[in-house]
Amino acid sequence: MLDWTDRHYRYMARLISQNTWLYTEMINANAIIHGNRDKLLTYHPQEQPIALQLGGSEPEVLAQAAKIAAGYDYNEINLNCGCPSPRVQQGAFGACLMHEVALVARCLNAMQETVDIPVTIKHRIGLDKETAYQPLADFVGTLRERTACRIFIVHARNAWLEGLSPKDNRDIPPLRYDYVYRLKQEFPDLHIILNGGVTSNKQICQHLQYVDGVMVGREAYHNPMLMRSWDAEFYGSTLPAVGYEALVEQLIEYTQQQLAKPDNSLRHMARHYLGLMHGLQGARQWRRMLSDASLLKNNNASLITAAWQAVKNSNVSQPASI
Ligand SMILES: Cc1cc2nc3c(=O)[nH]c(=O)nc-3n(C[C@H](O)[C@H](O)[C@H](O)COP(=O)(O)O)c2cc1C
Repeated sequence: MLDWTDRHYRYMARLISQNTWLYTEMINANAIIHGNRDKLLTYHPQEQPIALQLGGSEPEVLAQAAKIAAGYDYNEINLNCGCPSPRVQQGAFGACLMHEVALVARCLNAMQETVDIPVTIKHRIGLDKETAYQPLADFVGTLRERTACRIFIVHARNAWLEGLSPKDNRDIPPLRYDYVYRLKQEFPDLHIILNGGVTSNKQICQHLQYVDGVMVGREAYHNPMLMRSWDAEFYGSTLPAVGYEALVEQLIEYTQQQLAKPDNSLRHMARHYLGLMHGLQGARQWRRMLSDASLLKNNNASLITAAWQAVKNSNVSQPASI
């Protein structure tokens, strides 16, 4: 998620769940080729398994970017065919690629020819006011036939290319989970991952009766501790879930290490930590302290210690809850 799932968020997410597959923000393939690729692609090795999401629509450019990315040991390359933003449409990629399945097939093939890791796709269930299932099935079926792509992440709502902001495009077009379930029924050999509007582990379990996986976006950002039980619940781990105290300690250590490097600021990292205490007493204080510009400007990780102490003070009568 652009601006959200940067390396600092992902590192925190990895402290919470060891197994959950993490995705980068969408990165423009041209930026990787012509820009500061180390800055765009470097991540902490502990973040693995990690998928790099690319934006683009020129097969050779995407292939070149994928090859460069493979040198950074990503575990998967994902092509964005779901973003409806006008800027992305101007570049003729993102969701509007759903109108161009032959081109998408060429993009996926060009990338897969240059890398050994899986090349996957994330797309919508349709564009604009198209509500029929068949165009979606044709899109997926054609890619299944013409490419080696076997992992389809399906955001279960249409993208409206005109008249809706990117934000509204994540909420207003109605969710059609039944379309995603039907894809799995019709293409049982494909790995179908459902995305869109999932906010609880109960919902994840329900969807997993019909599809192979679930991608959680906004809720995993605003309430990252949702992921705390995922290793045990979905990956068969027998290790105990991480506790708040241990997590905060690791986060402070990571933040200190990062602050010792150039170009990192506490503000950039702490903004991703704001949702960590979601649902706990003291969460408001935690958020307030970690978003206070006058406190953040000192660039000192001890602010996290102080915010955590405030949470603990709010829970003195019920220490077990944290
Ligand atoms: C701030 C923000 C940035 C996003 N950036 C991307 C992106 O770079 N690539 C992408 O495929 N989807 C992106 N999305 C969409 C999410 O991946 C996801 O498909 C959408 O939010 C629906 O899932 P959710 O209800 O679990 O959040 C973004 C969403 C948000 C809120």
